[in-house]
Amino acid sequence: MAKTKTAFFCQNCGTQYAKWVGQCGACKEWNTVVEEVIQAPAKTDWKQPGSEDRARVKPLRVKEISTEKELRLDTFDQEFNRVLGGGLVPGSLVLLGGEPGIGKSTLLLQIALKLPYTTLYVSGEESQKQIKMRADRIQPDNDSCYILTETRTQDIFRHVEKLNPDILVVDSIQTLHSNYIESGAGSISQIRECTAELMKFAKETNTPVILIGHITKDGSLAGPKILEHMVDTVLQFEGDRNYVYRILRALKNRFGSTAELGIYEMQGKGLREVSNPSEILLSKNDEGLSGTAVAATVEGMRPLMIEIQALVSTAVYGTPQRSATGYNAKRLNMLLAVLEKRAGFKLGAKDVFLNITGGISVDDPAIDLAVVAAILSSNDDTAIDKGICFAAEVGLAGEIRPVQRVEQRILEAEKLGFTTIYVSKNNTISLKNTKIRIMLASKIEQIVEALF
Ligand code: TYD
Ligand code: MG
Repeated sequence: MAKTKTAFFCQNCGTQYAKWVGQCGACKEWNTVVEEVIQAPAKTDWKQPGSEDRARVKPLRVKEISTEKELRLDTFDQEFNRVLGGGLVPGSLVLLGGEPGIGKSTLLLQIALKLPYTTLYVSGEESQKQIKMRADRIQPDNDSCYILTETRTQDIFRHVEKLNPDILVVDSIQTLHSNYIESGAGSISQIRECTAELMKFAKETNTPVILIGHITKDGSLAGPKILEHMVDTVLQFEGDRNYVYRILRALKNRFGSTAELGIYEMQGKGLREVSNPSEILLSKNDEGLSGTAVAATVEGMRPLMIEIQALVSTAVYGTPQRSATGYNAKRLNMLLAVLEKRAGFKLGAKDVFLNITGGISVDDPAIDLAVVAAILSSNDDTAIDKGICFAAEVGLAGEIRPVQRVEQRILEAEKLGFTTIYVSKNNTISLKNTKIRIMLASKIEQIVEALF
């Protein structure tokens, strides 16, 4: 028997080493290098020997290829379609990542159940009974969704060849293993091999394949970067597990924009698509409360009104506490420094807590002004009128900076019944006949004067 060749792979980034090292030189992670058996390459094949060409694709002239729009498969889930860029592209390999328990399996099972096409849902994580129990809660009657609990790719492909599904879902890539590789499921070489086999299958048969991927503690997809390179689309399902809202975004998309966003609400009967996110993110509180301000943000292509809450109180300890949930803490410190220096607020001896309601996290700079307004409102204990919202970035000099797609924000604010919106003077706005009052400001002081 030939001597088995082994090499050492970093489980975090996939870098290969000839001998063991404590720290990966490439990604600087400690204790991630593990010995794995390496096989002769070029065996990557999803077909069993003997099952001859099933390939439905052949070379075509560019003009013979029909346009993308016609090619897309409707997933019957508006949010999922939107994030994919208008539906599933046949032959594409989609990777859905997310923290444990966020709802990845639920989302894909739900989509598989909704589809009128033949779908095969392969699970290496749960038993058929467990999946059935979940399916019953989501949508009890369905004739075209098949469940398979199998982890060996060669076996999966055997079933796939018999069933010939229109869509294949695999939960999860980390549980799969291939006969061609000896190392354990979830190891770098297994993930790479199984993904390569699935990719080959997808491309040759023109079947879309959706994979679920686990996420490591630092938030990146488990497995080497190569996994993200191999697939066509990388989707991320995120949200705070303690809240019901979930956000689906595309981190990479070969067939569409990565700016799109899907929003879901986790319910007892699965995930509900949220088509009007602003309404749920704004609290229905009628009395004006101090410390809250509303920002008109844009997530992806969608305008979104979100509520910012701030609490400013006298610091008990020598070093004041600053904490931000859903917002960059460094940016909060910067804004506090700007308020101290440019607007003369003595916030140095105050604890400041900031929270974006709904458990979502926002990095749109246009919420700066609302953050500032919420802080000042809490500091002054004066409520901001319910009809006011904000959309502007705040610069280091205390200047109010323009933001992109301001008109879209203004229209969304108007639609939701806001009467006044504060934006930067330097935004060019060509909207006509708007009922909402558009207030232009260039400095923080002007906002302070107008509101407090
Ligand atoms: P799951 O899809 O198993 O998460 P993942 O595959 O990402 O690990 O979903 C986990 C959570 O979703 C679970 O804690 C319970 C919740 N859930 C509901 O609230 N309602 C439902 O109908 C379902 C199916 C799950
Ligand atoms: Mg799962």
